[in-house]
Amino acid sequence: IVDTPAQCCFRSVFEPFKPPEMVRGKRVLVTGSSTGIGEQIAYEFARMGAHLLLTARREKQLKEVRPQKKCLELGASSARHVVSDMNNLTSAQNVIEEARNKLGGLDYLVLNHVGGSGRFGPFQGDMAAVTSSMTVNFLSYVQLTVSAMTMLQESQGSIIVISSLSGRIGAPFTLSYNAAKFALEGFYSSLRRELRLREISLSVTVAVLGYIDTDNALKSVGDKITMQANPKEECAREVVRAGVLRHREVIYPYWGLKPLLLLKEWMPGLMERLLDKFFVLENIL
Ligand SMILES: NC(=O)c1ccc[n+]([C@@H]2O[C@H](COP(=O)([O-])OP(=O)(O)OC[C@H]3O[C@@H](n4cnc5c(N)ncnc54)[C@H](OP(=O)(O)O)[C@@H]3O)[C@@H](O)[C@H]2O)c1
Ligand SMILES: *[C@@H]1O[C@H](CO)[C@@H](O)[C@H](O)[C@H]1NC(C)=O
Repeated sequence: IVDTPAQCCFRSVFEPFKPPEMVRGKRVLVTGSSTGIGEQIAYEFARMGAHLLLTARREKQLKEVRPQKKCLELGASSARHVVSDMNNLTSAQNVIEEARNKLGGLDYLVLNHVGGSGRFGPFQGDMAAVTSSMTVNFLSYVQLTVSAMTMLQESQGSIIVISSLSGRIGAPFTLSYNAAKFALEGFYSSLRRELRLREISLSVTVAVLGYIDTDNALKSVGDKITMQANPKEECAREVVRAGVLRHREVIYPYWGLKPLLLLKEWMPGLMERLLDKFFVLENIL
């Protein structure tokens, strides 16, 4: 198991990436996998022959994405699902119990689900939206991580956390959501360093994503921002590749976001005004 940065670079430059060999037979839990990016991430792992456990709230939706059909068709070693609402931390704990019972351990914990942060629009002081976003989009991630920690240490596994540009740069109209993403960045970047100092071989990959063309994203912001959405399939491929190679982070789309992240430290005012131009205020206010 390799996970120092130097070894990681060495590996990705000099060794061909052989995803199927590295992932076949591994046990993977993907949260929020009934639709969107999580669904695509499940398909990526399925293509490489992993054992999959999918979770979300809607059982019917999960069953269509789920086992017998697409994941197994794509080559998954097995595919199961468990229904869970991440607004309830006990329910989050139970998902990990299911992983222990059904898979006998865990190699990849993919934290991807998102919900509960209210609609896109000006912040009206809605404390319930802040609380539920912090629970669904932050606290449940931490709970899943805590509950899975023993299994992940045993397997020298990986945590893949889906964040956003809005977890690195403040953005209007999604305050409750952004707060949870910033919290994730703080928790998981700190956890990564702590694990390294404790010589625990468990990788933490944070995915910083831009605008992705999932049905829900297009529906909620399609007429409110003038940005071009990026394909969810390619997004999932990049995320899984970085996770398997145990990279510290993956930025997608790289050339769309990296300049903004650099500009943020250097000229934050200019960067904000560049981004402001993408909002269609007459459809928002
Ligand atoms: N799309 C983008 O433009 C974009 C940009 C940056 C970052 N991201 C990040 O990428 C990730 C996936 O986004 P997406 O666009 O694919 O989202 P999505 O299509 O809306 O999917 C969200 C998933 O989370 C599940 N979910 C929602 N509330 C839940 C709850 N209370 N308990 C358990 N599961 C719940 C949903 O399933 P059920 O409804 O069946 O529960 C669904 O499977 C998120 O972390 C998001 O923040 C997305
Ligand atoms: C949370 O989930 C647990 C286990 O699934 C359940 O027993 C409990 O009633 C739930 N709590 C709430 C507030 O829904």
